[in-house]
Amino acid sequence: MTDPGGRVEELADALTREEKVSLVHGAVDPERTATGYLPGVERLDIPELKLVDGPLGVRVPGQSATAFPASIALAATFNLELAERQGVAMGREAKARGQHSILGPGLNLIRVPHCGRNFEYYSEDPVLTADLAAAVVKGVQSEDVIATPKHYVANNQETKRLRVSAETSERALRELYLPGFRAAVEAGAGSVMTSYNRVNGTYMSDHRRLLTDVLKGEWGFDGYVVSDWFGTNSVAGSANAGLDLEMPGITFEELKDAFQMDPDTDLFEDADGEALPGPDAKAGLFAASLEEAVESGDVPESRLDDMVARILRQMERIGLFDGERDEGAVDTPEHRSLAETIAARATVLLENDGVLPLDANADVAILGPGAEDAMLGGGGSSEVESAHETPTLDGIRARSEGTVEYAQGVAKIRTPSFFDHESEEEPETGDDEPSLDEAVERAAEADVAVVVVRDANSEAEDRESLRLPGEQDELVAAVAEANDRTVVLVQSGGPVEMPWREDVAAVAVAWYPGQADGDAVASVLYGDVDAAGRLPVTFAPEGSYPANTEERFPGVDYEARYDEDVFVGYRHFDAAESDPTYPFGHGRSYAEFAYGDASMADESTVEVGVENVSERDGREVVQAYVAAPAVDGIDRPRRELAGYAAVELAAGESTTVSVSLNELAFQRYDEDGGWTTDEGEYTVELGRSSRDVRTETNVSQ
Ligand code: GLC
Repeated sequence: MTDPGGRVEELADALTREEKVSLVHGAVDPERTATGYLPGVERLDIPELKLVDGPLGVRVPGQSATAFPASIALAATFNLELAERQGVAMGREAKARGQHSILGPGLNLIRVPHCGRNFEYYSEDPVLTADLAAAVVKGVQSEDVIATPKHYVANNQETKRLRVSAETSERALRELYLPGFRAAVEAGAGSVMTSYNRVNGTYMSDHRRLLTDVLKGEWGFDGYVVSDWFGTNSVAGSANAGLDLEMPGITFEELKDAFQMDPDTDLFEDADGEALPGPDAKAGLFAASLEEAVESGDVPESRLDDMVARILRQMERIGLFDGERDEGAVDTPEHRSLAETIAARATVLLENDGVLPLDANADVAILGPGAEDAMLGGGGSSEVESAHETPTLDGIRARSEGTVEYAQGVAKIRTPSFFDHESEEEPETGDDEPSLDEAVERAAEADVAVVVVRDANSEAEDRESLRLPGEQDELVAAVAEANDRTVVLVQSGGPVEMPWREDVAAVAVAWYPGQADGDAVASVLYGDVDAAGRLPVTFAPEGSYPANTEERFPGVDYEARYDEDVFVGYRHFDAAESDPTYPFGHGRSYAEFAYGDASMADESTVEVGVENVSERDGREVVQAYVAAPAVDGIDRPRRELAGYAAVELAAGESTTVSVSLNELAFQRYDEDGGWTTDEGEYTVELGRSSRDVRTETNVSQ
C-alpha cells in the first residue's frame, strides 16, 4: 500500500481476508441498475461501487440517458474540446443515475473495417485515438466518476473474441495498439478494462507483462484493472498477472436476469456455433477460489492487499468516503445540444456536385428504411435508452420550408440488440410491404431526393461484408435513375461500399448520429453549419484493406496474424501506393480553403496560413503529417498523423493555424532499442487529408 497512515491503509488493515475478496469481484446489484457491482463492507463503512456501460451514454435498464453519437463520429469531428465535454456530460449522467464508474471510452484501434464494434472506437490512427481517449477520460474523471478505457488490448475483432490471439509484433503494439491506453492512463483514468482476447498466446486477464510490467510499471498506472465480463481466465494466474477486479463475478443467468437480456442470447457462443468456454465456465472465479489461492500462497496476501488498495484508492479519489458528491444531471438542454453539435460536426461530406446545401424551399423526397428511426448506435453493451430522439425524417421535416414526402422503399434494416425489446414493432408484414416503385415516384416528383441508408453493426459479431445490408443499394440506384439531384446519407459504424457513388449528386456520412440524428443531419444538409467532419478511417474497396487474408482476419485456429504490422489504414494504402475510395482525413466543406506557407514555430509546433476563399463561412480541419527519414532495414510509413486543428473561418477570413505535433510521429519503436528518434530531416506536411497535402516544411531531429 502506498498511503501509509492514510484511510485506505487503515481500512485495508482492518478488513478480514473474506471481506478483501468480496471487494475484488462483482455481485448482483440489488437495485438492478449497475452493469458491475461491488456491495462494499458495511462493517467498515465502505460504500458500494457501481460500474455502468458505456461509451455512447449511460445504460441503466429502464432509465433513459443522452444517447451520444457513436465514438467513431466523435473522432470524425477531430475536436478534442467536444470530446472532453462529452466526457463531462457522461460523467454527470452517470452520477445522476447513481453510478460511480462509466465503462468507457472504447478505444481499440480500427484495424479491420469489418469489426462489429468499430462504432464504439475512434480511428485507424493511434494519435487521433490517443487524443480523443485522453480528452474523454479527462472529462469523465473531472466529474469524480471513474473512467474505464477499454478493451486493453488488441481487441480489434469480434469473431472468436473470447479466445482469438492477436499475434502482433512489439512494434505494432507500441506504435499502434497501446498509445491510446497510455494516453488514457496519463489523462488520469482510474481503471482499465482487459479485453477477452489473447495477445501472442496469453489471455489479457492473465498477461503479466502488459498488465504489470507495462501498464502499472512503465506507465505508473495506480488505478484498478477490471476484467471484461466473464473475461477472467484463471484465478491465481490473473490475480498474479495484475488483474484487480473480476466482473461481473456472478453467473450468466444472474446477469441476463439483472439486465432483462434476451434469455436466448447467444452472446457467448461462437459465430460458428462452436461451444466456447461459456460465461459460466468463467463466472465467479474469484468468489469461489481466490481466498483459497491466498491461503495456499498461490496468490501472495500482498497482491490481494494491492488489489483492494487500488480499488479503495479510486473510491476515495472520487469522494465516496466523504459523501461529498453532487447529484449530476441527465438529459439536460446542454447535453441535448452537445449531442447534436457532435453529430453535426461529425458529418463527413464525401461528394457534393453543388446540390448541397439544400435550398430551404426545395421540395424534398426522403427515401429509405432508416429515415423513420433515429440511428442511436449499434447492438451490444453500448446500447442507450435515449431520453429524447429525432429521426432523420422528423429533423428534415422541421427544417424544410418546402414539401417533404417519404417512402420507405425497401425492407427495414434491424440492428441486433442484446436486450429484450418486447415493445419493438414487428418488421414490415402484409400490406405495408415497402414499395420501391413508390420511392422512385416520390423521387421523380421532388426537387431533391435524399436516400437514408444504414448498416447494422453489433458487438459480438463482425460484418460479413462492407456492402449495405438488405436492398439499399438497389434503392439508391433506382432513385438516382429517377432524379439526378440525389443525395445519399450514410448512417454507418464504419466504412461501407458505395457502388452508386458516381451516380449521385452528393454523399454524406453521418455515422451513428445518436439521439440528435434528424436535427444534426438537417443542420448540415441545409447548410446551417458547415460540413466539418473528416474521415477517421479509410473508405476503400473491401479487398484492398491490409488484413485481407483469413490468417490475418479473422484468423485460423484462433490466431489472427497481425502481419501487416504497423501498416494499418492509410499507412497501408500509402505503402501499397493504392488509392482508397476516400482517404483518411477526407471531408469536403461548403467553403473553400487556400493554404499558405508552413513553418516550424518551435520543434513541436507547426504554423500555416489558411484562408477561406469562398463566400460562405466554413470550418476546416488542418492536418499535419510527418514523413520520417529512411532508416536502413526499417519499413516506415510514408506519413503519420502528428496533429490537427479544427478552425472556423468566415468567408474571406484568413488566419495562422498552429498545430502541435505529437511526439509519436517522430519516433519509432525499435524491438531492441525501444523508443527511438532517428536523427535526420523530417518533412511536416500540412493539408486537408492524408492524400491532399497542400504545403510542407522541414524539421531536423
Ligand atoms: C461486454 C463488453 C464490454 C462491456 C461489458 C459490460 O461484453 O465487451 O465493453 O463494458 O461486457 O457490459
